[in-house]
Amino acid sequence: MKVLITAGPTREPIDPARYLTNRSSGKMGYALAKAAQKRGHSVLLVSGPTSLDIPEGVDFIPIESAEDLYQAVESQIGRMDIAIFAAAVADYTPVTVADQKIKKSGDELTLTLQKTRDVLGSARGVMGFKGTLVGFAAETENVEENARGKCARKGCDLVIANDVSRKDIGFDSFENEVTLVYTDRSEALPQNSKEHLAYDLVEVIEQL
Ligand code: CTP
Repeated sequence: MKVLITAGPTREPIDPARYLTNRSSGKMGYALAKAAQKRGHSVLLVSGPTSLDIPEGVDFIPIESAEDLYQAVESQIGRMDIAIFAAAVADYTPVTVADQKIKKSGDELTLTLQKTRDVLGSARGVMGFKGTLVGFAAETENVEENARGKCARKGCDLVIANDVSRKDIGFDSFENEVTLVYTDRSEALPQNSKEHLAYDLVEVIEQL
């Protein structure tokens, strides 16, 4: 099958020298890309900047901002059977990008941000994607309930939820512990390395 995977953080530019980003390392998305490729799928990885090597045999589109990610996904998703959205996309981006480096002035500086376009939330309606749609949910409280809401709102077949308030798993860790949240049920998986987890997740997603 043809599988699209988004991964890593986005960078939202403030001026030529600065950007807003987050703590995503890209490890989970890259592990999924590697596992899907090993299981015989044709994989396209669309990723923000990370320090990871691109898995062998995987097609790759590098992106920086949330808007770059939106446009890359919009142009590719039509030919996909499965789309897995593991990227940690900025929810807000600066309204204006300064042409020149912003100089120090007062004691406070206010940045005005506007909402980015929701790539996962646009896959079904705006982009007309009919394949298997999988999202991630990074939560700090009411993990299952929030993830179930996301699953329904964004038209997902599955949301992979993890508790990012825990220091030992999730963001930038080698291990993860996730709950598979469907619209009507959920299943907790035991803590595991992101590599092992990725194989199990690809198997689950194939069944969908
Ligand atoms: N996502 C996306 N595009 C965005 C924001 C998020 O594709 N602009 C995707 C992420 O890749 C992830 C899922 O949406 O698969 C969950 O993101 P999250 O920001 O947690 O979801 P929200 O519904 O925006 O909820 P919250 O209010 O918790 O931010």
